[in-house]
Amino acid sequence: MLRSLLYLLLSPLVLVFANAAPQWRFDLKAERSGIVALEAIVVSPTLVLFFDRASDDPLQINNHSAWGALWDLQTSTVRPVDVLTNSFCASGAMISNGTMVSVGGDLPRQSTFAQSGLTAIRIFEPCASPNGDNCTVFEDPQTLNLAEPRWYPTAIRIFDGSLLIAGGTHVNAAFYNVDPANSYEFFPPKDGGAVRPSAFLERSLPANLFPRGFALPDGQVFFVAGNQSIIYDIKNDTETILPDIPNNVHVTNPIDGSAILLPLSPPNYTPEVLICGGTAVDPAIQPANLSSQFPATRQCSRIVLTEKGIKEGWILEEMLQGGRTMPEMVHLPNGQVLIINGGRTGFAAIAQVPDAIGGSNADHPALTPEIYTPTAKLGSRFSDTGMPTSIVPRLYHSSVTLTPQGNFLVAGSNPNAHTVLNVTFPSEFRVETLDPPFMFVERPVIGTLPEKIAFGATTTVSVSIPKNLAGGKLQLSLMDLGFSTHAFHSSARLVFMDAKLSKDGAQLTFTMPPNGRVYPPGPAWVFLTIDNVSSEGVRIIAGSGNAPPTLD
Ligand SMILES: *[C@@H]1O[C@H](CO)[C@@H](O)[C@H](O)[C@H]1NC(C)=O
Ligand SMILES: *[C@@H]1O[C@H](CO)[C@@H](O)[C@H](O)[C@H]1NC(C)=O
Ligand SMILES: *[C@@H]1O[C@H](CO)[C@@H](O)[C@H](O)[C@H]1NC(C)=O
Ligand SMILES: *[C@@H]1O[C@H](CO)[C@@H](O)[C@H](O)[C@H]1NC(C)=O
Ligand SMILES: *[C@@H]1O[C@H](CO)[C@@H](O)[C@H](O)[C@H]1NC(C)=O
Ligand SMILES: *[C@@H]1O[C@H](CO)[C@@H](O)[C@H](O)[C@H]1NC(C)=O
Ligand SMILES: *[C@@H]1O[C@H](CO)[C@@H](O)[C@H](O)[C@H]1NC(C)=O
Ligand SMILES: *[C@@H]1O[C@H](CO)[C@@H](O)[C@H](O)[C@H]1NC(C)=O
Repeated sequence: MLRSLLYLLLSPLVLVFANAAPQWRFDLKAERSGIVALEAIVVSPTLVLFFDRASDDPLQINNHSAWGALWDLQTSTVRPVDVLTNSFCASGAMISNGTMVSVGGDLPRQSTFAQSGLTAIRIFEPCASPNGDNCTVFEDPQTLNLAEPRWYPTAIRIFDGSLLIAGGTHVNAAFYNVDPANSYEFFPPKDGGAVRPSAFLERSLPANLFPRGFALPDGQVFFVAGNQSIIYDIKNDTETILPDIPNNVHVTNPIDGSAILLPLSPPNYTPEVLICGGTAVDPAIQPANLSSQFPATRQCSRIVLTEKGIKEGWILEEMLQGGRTMPEMVHLPNGQVLIINGGRTGFAAIAQVPDAIGGSNADHPALTPEIYTPTAKLGSRFSDTGMPTSIVPRLYHSSVTLTPQGNFLVAGSNPNAHTVLNVTFPSEFRVETLDPPFMFVERPVIGTLPEKIAFGATTTVSVSIPKNLAGGKLQLSLMDLGFSTHAFHSSARLVFMDAKLSKDGAQLTFTMPPNGRVYPPGPAWVFLTIDNVSSEGVRIIAGSGNAPPTLD
């Protein structure tokens, strides 16, 4: 009796809460990252590996400042990881057997505890411990090295599960690339360990650091650097030159825009690339004549990488809120793209323009994310409806990654030469998640998947679908969450899979992509989305799980 009375009294309230659609929100964590999370990669269902510069970070290991750390997604806590070489401005990716490989970096400079990272290869083997106990970075600088010194390189997993490592600078990169490593190499090495000179990187100087590239479904690789782009044929070592990005817009460090390979869908897996932000400026202008107030561009350029699409060239659109330098572009499991972080004006690099804000060459942080819907009509693809605004500026040296839980981990920013706290844009140790609305409702759940699934294989898995989503639009995505650094997520990828629910909705039958060109062999996260409500990701290895090179 009392209970039903209470129920009657409370039910309008319950209704109000049930009807209030959950919104996107930022969630600032109590614990800080301890090191600046200038590089971030998800290495297990619960762990994200951060790298920073070997410097004076507060997090300690073996009686010195750490520059590697594991962030525990379950507890939102950090633990230091010992790293031998200076990982400042390195790159990395997963390879076909599930191992994370980080490459390149800087001289030890500020740390007497670090060795040079210029030719470093850092190995993080798959680690089963949920909280990171005994998970380690392995390095052997005596025997395991890149062929050419590379600071600010890019590493992309390719069709045989190995890494294509591109570009960088040898040792000097105060702003432009004046000491370039204009070449490609591989890990594990090909060509007997020789590097391949790159005419493209030569042409795209001097703002060609962290070239943005994607493995394409025909096995070739798309690259953009400066305002130039190519398709690189790895087997033939030949390049096809594509049209320049229009309107003098440059998109690689220190004039950073970002680029993303839009979701690939069966049966054709037609590749499309989207490039947003950066700056319309001539890189012949020296930083002494640039300004932290120089406006970034709001231009996005999109191209379909087929013969016809290339003939049509770049199709232009504009971000909603304004220009962004150093934006981050990250896939959502439903195929939308999150655009987050960066500044409205200025440039990357540290204290090079005459009116730097402390050390920051950039100003006017972009604090509200936008969402891009690739399948919407041209002119109506951007939205920031319901998007929250962060209180934390994330300019140079920040990172963001989609997590296996389905939200985004957002960390870092340090446009300073070491740890500096008393400036407008300090060394930033605050960590947030950006949580999509689906984090607050009942979500689909994917059951146990095999550890490895072969290309082309059809698999059935048990699933549970919330009642209110029954009959909704179903999407099943196979995702690489990428290695985040310097406004780019190398190897990030989303491939949709054909999938069908059983009549009772309890079994999902799906087919893997046909081969390792469509999804380079290696770790992947499977997400089930129904009516934009995404499950957590389940980790598998796509392909054999063999060490590279492997032609699965
Ligand atoms: C760290 O420093 C303390 C005090 O200076 C010393 O007792 C300890 O042995 C040092 N530990 C390591 C691992 O060097
Ligand atoms: C970590 O290593 C220590 C020392 O080798 C060992 O005692 C401990 O059991 C290990 N912990 C895990 C979770 O493997
Ligand atoms: C690669 O080289 C082979 C042999 O020279 C040639 O037949 C083929 O057309 C080339 N492929 C491309 C994409 O250029
Ligand atoms: C590409 O950049 C160069 C150097 O700023 C410039 O001369 C050229 O006009 C640009 N191309 C386009 C299409 O804007
Ligand atoms: C800056 O611009 C001035 C005037 O155009 C020019 O004389 C000078 O060489 C430029 N300086 C640099 C560092 O580019
Ligand atoms: C910040 O602190 C450093 C070290 O205490 C000091 O040298 C510097 O002048 C301070 N800078 C500002 C902008 O207050
Ligand atoms: C899912 O999101 C897309 C893009 O915003 C939107 O067009 C569509 O209506 C949404 N679907 C549902 C069921 O909310
Ligand atoms: C994966 O392959 C790399 C390159 O051969 C090797 O260094 C690493 O130890 C392998 N990892 C596992 C787990 O076998």
